Amino acid sequence: MNLELTEEQLTVQKAARDFAQTELLPGVIERDTEQKFPSDQIKKMGELGLMGMMTDPKYNGGGMDTISYVLAMEEISKVDASASVCMSVNNSLVCWGLERFGTDEQKEKYLKKLTTAEYIGAFCLSEPEAGSDATSQRTTAEDKGDYYLLNGTKNWITNGKSASIYIVIAQTHPEKKHKGINALIVERGMPGFVVGKKEDKMGIRGSDTHSLMFTDVKVPKANRIGEDGFGFTFAMTTLNGGRIGIASQALGIASGAYELAVKYAKERKAFGKHLSEHQAIQFKLADMATKINAARLLVWQAAYLKDQKKDFVKAAAMAKLFASQIAQEVTSEAVQIHGGYGYVKEFHVERLMRDAKITQIYEGTTEIQKMVISRELLR
Ligand code: CAA
Repeated sequence: MNLELTEEQLTVQKAARDFAQTELLPGVIERDTEQKFPSDQIKKMGELGLMGMMTDPKYNGGGMDTISYVLAMEEISKVDASASVCMSVNNSLVCWGLERFGTDEQKEKYLKKLTTAEYIGAFCLSEPEAGSDATSQRTTAEDKGDYYLLNGTKNWITNGKSASIYIVIAQTHPEKKHKGINALIVERGMPGFVVGKKEDKMGIRGSDTHSLMFTDVKVPKANRIGEDGFGFTFAMTTLNGGRIGIASQALGIASGAYELAVKYAKERKAFGKHLSEHQAIQFKLADMATKINAARLLVWQAAYLKDQKKDFVKAAAMAKLFASQIAQEVTSEAVQIHGGYGYVKEFHVERLMRDAKITQIYEGTTEIQKMVISRELLR
């Protein structure tokens, strides 16, 4: 694995960094406070090519590798984790899943608009009684010949209100358990589909997380992704890639907090010298930087294996497990270095600390990552 970034990868990284500083940083505190979805910013991210980075250019995608994607995710996440979760879900769960497993018609109809952010996508697996235990889907997709009749509720859906396209996982043949599950493309506005309550969250408050209700929604058979009964494998395979996106989000949250802590330590004086001249602070920064570097290597390894079309399941789970853990530790230390200023909104680190927690929960909790890793190790 080559750790030297190419010219193209460096260009992508810089473009994402510049965008984050000029377009996302102004207003990020207000969006967090007011729980305001960054719609204008996401549109611009679509124009910049950040919403379908790995998708084939024939579907208006960037045709880039996963390394470029994680570089961009880290830069966006340093500043605005609410924008980056929208970016991650759209790129890794929706665009990637559709490109890999969708029909030509589905790609023409949906993918071309998802890559440009004309449409935003959502991935709907979690339910009130099926979060980690994802095989226990209660949402049903009854086979009615040329359509499925969809009934049920989905919970904690990222992009829940802003999305136009929802990939909904539902049970068609309960007797077949997870092998009877389907993945269906549901369009906003289909009769019987209602966007429910918005969650009032601890972090990523600019991202819109909603419950969704489906009552006798008629979904054409043409909207099924893959063969009958492929839905659970679709969800798991897609989530393997999604976990690289969330790992890079956690990495970005950590490195954003670290950079703010370094800046503050060089500016702030206590006991007659800068904080950065105190060994207690120097050691904290050394620990933070080491953890971030280790997380980055795991994220890049998972991205590299995916690009090489090698098995990356374990590597992705390890990257997410570790990066989300160190995001907790690093953001907490960044707040500590800032002291009282760290506890108030205008210094950004308290937001990053709140944002970090979700990376240990969504797209598979820390405990699920350990299940995935240990199963891979022991099989
Ligand atoms: N990759 C590919 N296939 C996988 C897989 C993986 N990582 N993990 C499991 N599978 C397959 C298994 O091979 C098995 O298929 P076969 O029977 O064909 O072999 C099938 O899935 C069922 O697996 P298990 O028998 O191991 O079932 P289980 O119930 O013991 O474990 C689980 C399943 C791994 C716990 C799974 O339910 C899981 O990953 N849960 C976490 C769900 C999750 O990540 N939710 C995130 C919600 S989406 C989200 O957060 C998006 C957002 O908005 C930000």
